[in-house]
Amino acid sequence: MKVSVIGAAGSVGAPAAFHIGMSGVADELVLIDMRPNVVQQHAMDMSTAMCELGVKVTAGTHEDLVGSDVVINAAGVPQGLIADRMEMLPKNIPLVRDVALAVKKYCPDAFVITATNPIDPLNYCTWKTGGFDRHQVIGYSRNDSTRFREIIARLKGVATDRVQATVVGEHGSTQVPLFSSARIDGAPLTFTDAEKQSVLAEIPTILKRYEELQSGRTAGWTSAVGLAVLTRAVLQDTKEVIPCSVVLDGEYGRSGLSVSVPVRLGRAGVLEIQEWDLAPDEQPGFEKTVAAMAAAARIVDDNLGAAE
Ligand code: LAC
Repeated sequence: MKVSVIGAAGSVGAPAAFHIGMSGVADELVLIDMRPNVVQQHAMDMSTAMCELGVKVTAGTHEDLVGSDVVINAAGVPQGLIADRMEMLPKNIPLVRDVALAVKKYCPDAFVITATNPIDPLNYCTWKTGGFDRHQVIGYSRNDSTRFREIIARLKGVATDRVQATVVGEHGSTQVPLFSSARIDGAPLTFTDAEKQSVLAEIPTILKRYEELQSGRTAGWTSAVGLAVLTRAVLQDTKEVIPCSVVLDGEYGRSGLSVSVPVRLGRAGVLEIQEWDLAPDEQPGFEKTVAAMAAAARIVDDNLGAAE
C-alpha cells in the first residue's frame, strides 16, 4: 500500500509520515514538500529507520503521487500567529486546489485526507476542485475528540484510555463537544452544569496556549497518531467510527458543506455517515457550527469561481 504525504517537511506532515511508516500500514511512502532538501533528508533518514520494516521511502513531487492509495495533504502556507484557524482559509485555498488537481491527474482513485487548516472548508475545496466522490475525501479533526477525552479523564480522575467521547462540528472555534457521547469503559457519563462549563471554558484555550508559545509548530505528534489511525482504518478496512469532516448531502438535513460528524471508515473510504441524536443542549451549537461551515464553503465557492 502506497501513502503519499504532501507537506512532509512540516510539523504535521513529517511526524505523520514517520508514524504511518512505523505502524506497518504502508509499504511505500512518498514525501512531498516545497522544501525538497528537507524531505530528501527525511526520506534518507526514514529509509534507514524503517529498513527492517521493508518500507520504501522516497522524496518526490506531485508526479510521484501515481499509484497512491492514500494521500495526506498537510501542506499550508506559513501560518504565523493566529487567533482562529479560519484566518488561513483564503491563503490555503490555492494550495489545496493545486493538490486536488494533482491527485485528480496522478492518482484519481486515492483516498484523500486534508489536514491543512481550516480543514472543514478545505476538505470541501478538495472535493469540489477534484470532482471526487464525497466518500473519497475527508478532513482530519480527531485531535478535538482526543483532547475532549483527556479533559474528561482529568475531571473524572481516570486514565484517558478508559474514556470515549466525540467532538463534532468545525475543527475550530465552533466545535461541539458531545457530552452525551461520553463513556468510561463504555458506561454513560453524567456531568453537572459546573463540570460542563469548566470543560467548555478549557477547550477554546488550547489553540491559544499553543500559539502563545510561538514555537513555529502545531500539534504534530497528536495529528500523526490520528492520521495513522485514519490511514489504517482505510487501508486495513477496520470499519471503525471516527469523527471526520465529510461533505454532507442531506445528512443532518444539510448539504453543500463539509463538517465533522461520526464516520465509518474502510477500504472503500467513507462507508457510512452516522446521524447521531444530539442532546437538547447540544443542538444549538451544532446548528451554529453547520451554519459557519456552510458560510466557509461559500467562501471556497467564490474563490474557486474567481480562479476559473
Ligand atoms: C490542532 C491543529 C492541527 O488543533 O489544528 O491540533
